[in-house]
Amino acid sequence: MRTHFDLISEGVAGRTALVRSDLNVPLDAGNITDDGRIRASVPTISELSGEGAQVVVVAHLGRPKGGPDPALSLAPVAARLGELLGAPVRLVELSRGVPEMAAGDVVMLENIRFDPRETSKNDDERAALAHELAALAGPDGVFVSDGFGVVHRKQASVYDVALDLPAYAGGLVLAEVEVLRKLTEAPERPNTVVLGGSKVSDKLAVIDALLPKVDALLVGGGMCFTFLAAQGYEVGDSLLERDQIDTCRKLLESGKIVLPSDVVVADDFSAEANTRTVAVEDIPVGWKGLDIGPESVETFAEVLARAATVFWNGPMGVFELAPFAAGTRGVAQAIIDATAKGGAFSVVGGGDSAAAVRALGLPEEAFSHISTGGGASLEFLEGKSLPGLAVLEHY
Ligand code: 3PG
Repeated sequence: MRTHFDLISEGVAGRTALVRSDLNVPLDAGNITDDGRIRASVPTISELSGEGAQVVVVAHLGRPKGGPDPALSLAPVAARLGELLGAPVRLVELSRGVPEMAAGDVVMLENIRFDPRETSKNDDERAALAHELAALAGPDGVFVSDGFGVVHRKQASVYDVALDLPAYAGGLVLAEVEVLRKLTEAPERPNTVVLGGSKVSDKLAVIDALLPKVDALLVGGGMCFTFLAAQGYEVGDSLLERDQIDTCRKLLESGKIVLPSDVVVADDFSAEANTRTVAVEDIPVGWKGLDIGPESVETFAEVLARAATVFWNGPMGVFELAPFAAGTRGVAQAIIDATAKGGAFSVVGGGDSAAAVRALGLPEEAFSHISTGGGASLEFLEGKSLPGLAVLEHY
C-alpha cells in the first residue's frame, strides 16, 4: 500500500490531492460537540498542503436522505478545520467545481452524501461520481484515502475514485491499520476486551471473531442485560434483545465473559430519575439498568490491571447523563491505569467510547491509541475485507 509519505517523496507541489477524510462529527444545533475526527485528520492535510499541494478535502456528515440538507452542511466542519490549520478552508459545491487554488490552499467539498450517487448500490452511478471527482483533481491529480472511519463503505469517494486516480493511504489510515493489526495478529497476553453499547446484535460478529483470541471479555452497557437474562436474571425494563438470549447463553459457555454483578437502575430514562444501585439479582420490576455499579467496576478493574492488551468499544452506561457516567468513567480510568502502571497496550475503538473519553474530560494521550473508526474498526477486527483498504492494495 503506497502512502502519502511516498507521494511527498515523489513530489506533490502544484498537484491537486483529493483527500478523503472522515469528518463525521457529532453536532448539536449546528455546534460541533466533539472535534476528535477533525483533529485526527489535520496531519495528513497539513503535510500535503505544506508540501505545496492543492488539497481538496472530501467528506460526509450524517446520512442525508437523497439530497442536500442544510442541517448536514459541512460549513461548521470547514470552519473548525480552518481554525486548526491556521488558514481558512473554503467550502465549495461539487457542481460549481473547484475555484482557482494556489499551492498549499485547502478547500472542502460540501457533504459528498448530498449526491445520492455517493452511496448508490449501482456501480455505474458511483463510478460516474468518481469520474467527476477525479476530473476535479486534473491530469496530475492524486487521491489520498485518509478517512479510516469510512473505509468499510464501498462508496464513490472512498472506493471508486481510487480506481480513477493514483491512490495513496494517508497517515491516519496507516496508523489505524498498524494498531488494529497488532490487536488481531499477535496480541500480547493476557488480552482483555471490554464491550459495551446498547445492542448485542451489533457486536455478535466481533464477539465471535475475538472470543478465541481473548483471555477475558468484559461486558457492560445496555447489551449486558441480554447476557444477564441468559443467566436467568430478571432485568426489569432494561434493554433486552429476547431473540439473542440463546446466542448469549452459548457465548457464556466460553467461560471468558465477565458480566456486571451490580447495576445502577432508574425509574425513568432521564438525569432527574430516581436511581438505586442494586445487585443484578435484585433489579426491580419497572426499573431499567442504565449503568454498571461500583462493585462491577472494581471487578473489571482487577481484570484490566493484569492485562497486557486492552481493546475497549462501547460505553458501560448512559454516560451522557451524569447519574449514569460512573461506570464508563471507572472502566476508562482502569484502562488508563493498566496502560500507565501495567504497560498495557490499550486501544479505544472509535464512536461512542472515543466520544466518552473526551466528554468525560479524560486525557486522550493516556491510552495507547484512540481509533477514529467505530464501525470500521469493528469490521477490521471481525476480519472482514474493507473495500476502502482493499482498493489501495492494488498499488
Ligand atoms: C462513522 O461515523 O462511523 C463513519 O463516519 C461512517 O458513517 P456511516 O456509518 O454513516 O457510513
